Amino acid sequence: MDSCFGSKVVVVTGASRGIGRSIALAFARRGAHIVIAARTADRLAEVQDEVRALGAKVLSVPTDVTSPNAVSALLASTVDRFGRIDVLVNNAGIGKVGRTESATFDDDVLQTMRASLFGMIDVTRAALPIMRGQGSGTVVNMSSVMGRKAFAQFGSYAIVMHAVSAFSDSLRQEVAGSGIQVSVIHPALTATDLLRDADEAAMPPPFRHMTPLSSDDVAHAVVIAVRRGKRRVVLPRTANMLLLGEAFSPRLGDLIATALTKRPVARMLGMSRGTTYHETILSHPAP
Ligand SMILES: NC(=O)c1ccc[n+]([C@@H]2O[C@H](COP(=O)([O-])OP(=O)(O)OC[C@H]3O[C@@H](n4cnc5c(N)ncnc54)[C@H](OP(=O)(O)O)[C@@H]3O)[C@@H](O)[C@H]2O)c1
Repeated sequence: MDSCFGSKVVVVTGASRGIGRSIALAFARRGAHIVIAARTADRLAEVQDEVRALGAKVLSVPTDVTSPNAVSALLASTVDRFGRIDVLVNNAGIGKVGRTESATFDDDVLQTMRASLFGMIDVTRAALPIMRGQGSGTVVNMSSVMGRKAFAQFGSYAIVMHAVSAFSDSLRQEVAGSGIQVSVIHPALTATDLLRDADEAAMPPPFRHMTPLSSDDVAHAVVIAVRRGKRRVVLPRTANMLLLGEAFSPRLGDLIATALTKRPVARMLGMSRGTTYHETILSHPAP
């Protein structure tokens, strides 16, 4: 039991697999009570069993975060069961790879907005009165390195991840002094099913040699962010070089993004350490 998280109530959206599942398990290991939400009930039930096996109390609520009724039901059943929400991890989301000129680009933006941004906003707005009533709580919003610097062929996703970053920034300032903290997480490419169906050749060029993070790496960063009240976390740390370059000038940001397509540069920046995203993902069975 971790004294920081023992008996705290942690709600994780998008917890049926990938990063959300790892986050739920990471908080469960530290003694928190866990509420897991996602659309796929049978996969959620499997994660529920894994969380319970760690000795944690767990509530599983099949939820589509794009449905306001489902979001209300998620928050109501959480308060019914546990009486409070200490940590809300807004992790549910989707991602589509494709160029701006592709036939589906505007639809990709819209779908990603609905799941990854408006879902997050809705869940947060429903949780805030509860946290304000408690005078405490942490909201963790999952963005991406793409939320600070977009890559080619990933515009629809990057647009939404930038919006998640902006939402987190404004919310953090609005709740200052209320006892509520807001953290935004910006992971680089991570070995989950998010982009499993994307054609490898169509992936953003800087991903070509990139070795993905593990979902456990991201979960660990979330736990540390909540414990230390970190406003923003970028991982791996070396991704900050790209963001620093971009802050200095977009030309430098683009140069670094282009340089990442070369294996020696990706290796030098610690971004290429062997297996690529598709090699990692295709070695696991499809969900
Ligand atoms: N993988 C990466 O490279 C990477 C990098 C940076 C940030 N991220 C972010 O990390 C988050 C988690 O992604 P992941 O990589 O773990 O991908 P993933 O394995 O595809 O998991 C996505 C999760 O979100 C859930 N979800 C999707 N749409 C939903 C909806 N409308 N309502 C409720 N749940 C929904 C999915 O469950 P159901 O399908 O069962 O609903 C699943 O549990 C996303 O927000 C993603 O943008 C990922």
